[in-house]
This record gives sequence, C-alpha cells and structure tokens, in this order.
Amino acid sequence: MAALNSRGNSVRALLTLAAAAALILFFFVFSPSSCNNPTANIHRSSEYSHQQQQQPISASVEDVRWLKSQLEMNRIPDPPTTREAWHSLRKGINPRTRAQQLDDFVRFKGISHYEDPIEAGNHTMLPCPGELLVEEHHSNYGEPWAGGRDVFEFLASSVRLHPDAHVLEIGCGTLRVGLHFIRYLNPERFHCLERDDLSLMAALRYELPSQGLLQKRPLIVKGEDMDFSRFGSGVVYDLIYASAVFLHMPDELVWVGLERLATRLKPYEGRIFASHNIKFCSRLGGEECTKRLSSLGLEYVRKRTHDSLLFNHYEIWFEFKRSKP
Ligand SMILES: C[S@@+](CC[C@H](N)C(=O)[O-])C[C@H]1O[C@@H](n2cnc3c(N)ncnc32)[C@H](O)[C@@H]1O
Repeated sequence: MAALNSRGNSVRALLTLAAAAALILFFFVFSPSSCNNPTANIHRSSEYSHQQQQQPISASVEDVRWLKSQLEMNRIPDPPTTREAWHSLRKGINPRTRAQQLDDFVRFKGISHYEDPIEAGNHTMLPCPGELLVEEHHSNYGEPWAGGRDVFEFLASSVRLHPDAHVLEIGCGTLRVGLHFIRYLNPERFHCLERDDLSLMAALRYELPSQGLLQKRPLIVKGEDMDFSRFGSGVVYDLIYASAVFLHMPDELVWVGLERLATRLKPYEGRIFASHNIKFCSRLGGEECTKRLSSLGLEYVRKRTHDSLLFNHYEIWFEFKRSKP
C-alpha cells in the first residue's frame, strides 16, 4: 500500500513538473516581448505595412500640435493682416503673379533651356503649355485649391475609404479633389467623367505627371451625357461623388445619371455624395423626389457639412445610398 502511495506521489509530482514546463514554454512562445518572440515581430511588421497602406485620411490633433510646435520653433509669427506687412516678411524673394510668370516664361523660356527647337523637343518627354506650368487652372473655381483636400478628407472618411475601393467622380475638372483620391487609391481604382477640354488638359498633361501619379492609371473619360459605358460594366463603386457639379447641370441630366449609376453603387454601404444643393430633387417637391429616388432603388440618407482645415469655409453635402428591397 505504502509503495502504491509513493508511486502515486511520484506520478503527481511528474505531472506537476510537466504542467509547469508547459506553462513556461507557453509564456516563452506567446510572450508580448518581441525580443525573444519571432511571431510577434512578424505580426507587428504586417500590422505596420497595413498601417502604411492605410494612410491616415485627416490630420489628427497631435499632427496639428506638432505643426504649431514647428512654427514656434522657427519663430514664425501669426500671419499679418495687411498686404504691406505680409510682403515685409520677404527676404531676398521677388514674387511674380501667374500672369507675369507666364509672360516671363514665354519670353525667356526659363533660366537654362535648349535654344534649338528640335533639341528642345528631344529633351522633354511631355511638353506642357505655359498656362499649366504657372498653374492658372488652380484658380479655375474661384476658391482655394486647398479646398480639394477638404473634400477628399470628408468623403474618404465618410465611406471609410480603403485603397482597394472603387471611386467615380462626375465632373472631376482639373483634379482638385481627384488627385487626393488617385494618390490614396490603388492603381485603376479612380474613374472620372469630365466634359471640359481645358480641365482634361490640365488633369492629364500637368497634374498627373507633376504629382508623380501616372503609375496610378486613373481612368478619366471625356463626356457630358452621363454615359458611363466606357468604365466597363463589371465595376461596382464604393463611392460616387459630384463636387460642385450637379448644380451646373440640367435636372433631367442628373436623373439620367442617377438612373444609370444606381445599380453600379455597392449595396448597401456604397454612397453617392452631391455637394452644395440638390435642387434637381427639391424642385420636384419632397414627396415626388423620394418617390423618384425609390423608383431607381435609391434613398436619401442625410445632409452633412464639413469644415475646411485651412480657411473659414464649410462644404454642404447630400448623401444617398441604395435602398433595401
Ligand atoms: C465647379 S467644377 C468642379 C470640379 C471638381 N469637381 C472640383 O470640385 O474641383 C464643375 C465641373 O463639372 C464639369 N461638368 C459640368 N457638367 C458636366 C457634364 N454634363 N458632364 C461631365 N462634367 C460636367 C465641368 O466641366 C467642371 O469641370
């Protein structure tokens, strides 16, 4: 009996030892310290590359604090309120207006250039008109070019944009907004229908190459009839937006567009956003508008506003989605 007891004790002791060893091994393998845990490193590095891919969309409070600290560090004062005081900040800089810059450029062709026209052509792969080089088109819409970033940040965060999303802009103009989408999205994910030759020229001949975005292969198509057939039939959009466009179109053309796009919007999290106003809808009367939307399989979600990061301005947006059957 005593022998049996002592054998039982040794088995129990052995089992306890084995459990302790297993516990220690467990802690070694799954310890949060990355020094002796290779799996943690792999996990972190994939998380890091995911974060890198998912760049933040808007500036954080911390980002703004950092920027202010940089202004302070360099003793950059608050901006002066008069033009004279503003220009008195200059040291050794002789600014030119866009018109003057264009005139200089046409007359003197820059500081170092090839005189011979054939030679000049041989050294420039994508010759660009002077008007675009001095960025005349950045003043096309009567409000700061920087507002394009605000629009991007609002729309991208509203739909929780990810780089693989499909986005369509109706009337992307000179890519004031579109550039930010193109930069954020994976190649071939940004589509746009635009009617204006000058804007298309600015977008394709200047903005894409100068921003280093040619490799993103956005599909920008010329057209004004809300004909989306050249974008292919297989794409379902996460986001379709019209920034300052529907208000310039005849109401019936907006409805034609909505009819053609309703089934190309991702059910049910895809969104259509239109800025400024939705008179194409309200002019019908509230009830009639809801009925017409619902006949297309769409519904109005809400009105929203978005403040600019850089100037005293807010955008008004109207949101639509596909209705559930
Ligand atoms: C005020 S601009 C806005 C451009 C751009 N969405 C932005 O926010 O910077 C309006 C744009 O819509 C375009 N547009 C107007 N009607 C159009 C139509 N029927 N089809 C395609 N584009 C159109 C104009 O050519 C112009 O580029």
